[in-house]
Amino acid sequence: MPRAKILYQCQSCGYASPKWLGKCPDCGQWNSFSEEKRVTSLKSQSAAEPVALKDISASQGRRSSTDIKELDRTLGGGVVMGSVVLIGGDPGIGKSTLILQSMKGLARLGTVLYVSGEESPEQVKIRADRLHIHCGEIILLPETSLEGILAAARKIAPQVIVIDSIQTIFSLELPSAPGSVGQIRECATKLMFFAKKQGIPLFIIGHVTKEGAIAGPKVLEHIVDTVLYFEGDKGNPFRILRAVKNRFGSTNEIGVFEMQESGLMEVENPSQLFLSERPENVPGSVVTVSLEGTRPLLVEIQALVTTSSFGVPRRTALGVDYNRINLLIAVLDKRLGMHLGAMDIFVNVVGGLRIDEPAIDMGIIAAIVSSFRNQAIDREVFTFGEVGLSGELRAVSQASIRINEAVKLGFRKGIVPFSNSTASDGMHIDISGVKNVEEAVELLMF
Ligand code: TYD
Ligand code: MG
Repeated sequence: MPRAKILYQCQSCGYASPKWLGKCPDCGQWNSFSEEKRVTSLKSQSAAEPVALKDISASQGRRSSTDIKELDRTLGGGVVMGSVVLIGGDPGIGKSTLILQSMKGLARLGTVLYVSGEESPEQVKIRADRLHIHCGEIILLPETSLEGILAAARKIAPQVIVIDSIQTIFSLELPSAPGSVGQIRECATKLMFFAKKQGIPLFIIGHVTKEGAIAGPKVLEHIVDTVLYFEGDKGNPFRILRAVKNRFGSTNEIGVFEMQESGLMEVENPSQLFLSERPENVPGSVVTVSLEGTRPLLVEIQALVTTSSFGVPRRTALGVDYNRINLLIAVLDKRLGMHLGAMDIFVNVVGGLRIDEPAIDMGIIAAIVSSFRNQAIDREVFTFGEVGLSGELRAVSQASIRINEAVKLGFRKGIVPFSNSTASDGMHIDISGVKNVEEAVELLMF
């Protein structure tokens, strides 16, 4: 008997099973399986020829600028020919706007094929007018079938392809609905083969599900070369473009934008922006330095410590890891004898930024202590350092780059880990190296 051509796939992680399941054994999601057709299209690819490493010309890794510096930086210095870039983000965050703005620069390569499965040509036109993009090289294709897109692409022979968004594209060969894991994988793979063969860049826009992952996340993330996430919250005009995977550059690089009436504006000096609304002489606020890729960022950490009115105190962390906050609170309890067990504690990174680096530990500690003691920290002082479980302050990488950024923004004094204190040699700033949290707090709150 021939094998059945049907399989069931989890729509949240891509796990495949020959029979329907109520709960995904891989990601634990309930009721997420739907019927898909087995894809057998890959075997038709012709075998590749082996090539000696020295014979490969570097032009295959040629880059092209998008004319948007912040986007180029996140891509690792411009988009690589023949690469596939996935741009993910919440609906309405500005993905279409960003890609449309970058097309002005990309049009230098030749024809740009913009496949819009979400918006009508009129809607795209209105947006393009608003962004002042009137470039003859941009061809709009309001098409959602994969076969139609590939046929058009063969005819037009574009130099760049943009798919907005992958969730709206479907292949006629598969029975499942657009947006299902099977469809996304099939469409992205076929489009990728086309782009790689032609040696042109392909941009794929993907929406993020409410769990924070690009739908069909695992399937798409390893197919593409570069994954960029567009983050930010709707109430805040700042947007952060973050590389989470990049075969052609560093991850952790970020680009900072501000959404304005006339589109996304690049923010050249994010530190200045994130500190611009810093209150004067208020307890619970301190400036710390985080490093995003190669770029130092001065950010304000705020904490609010209040007496809890419930039996179980609340801990809220915005922009920092929740477990990290609990750990730092435990260190404060043990090392400084600060009993925070009956306190609600809220910690926030100002500006909607999210930071995962341990170097901001000391900033979090300082903000909590300052709020707890109701004592403001000097505006012109910054601090950074990783805090260990015994309260020791550990060195962080690239300390001199961090201190230099603080000097540029006019900070007068820094409290840093002892082994980082020589990093400021030659700079006009007063740096104190401390060995543990007690010493740091003493200096910050004299
Ligand atoms: P959009 O790029 O359509 O988001 P996505 O493609 O990620 O779903 O951006 C939509 C939002 O951006 C919308 O709420 C309006 C806002 N916006 C501006 O504020 N200024 C502009 O110039 C543009 C084009 C959009
Ligand atoms: Mg859009």
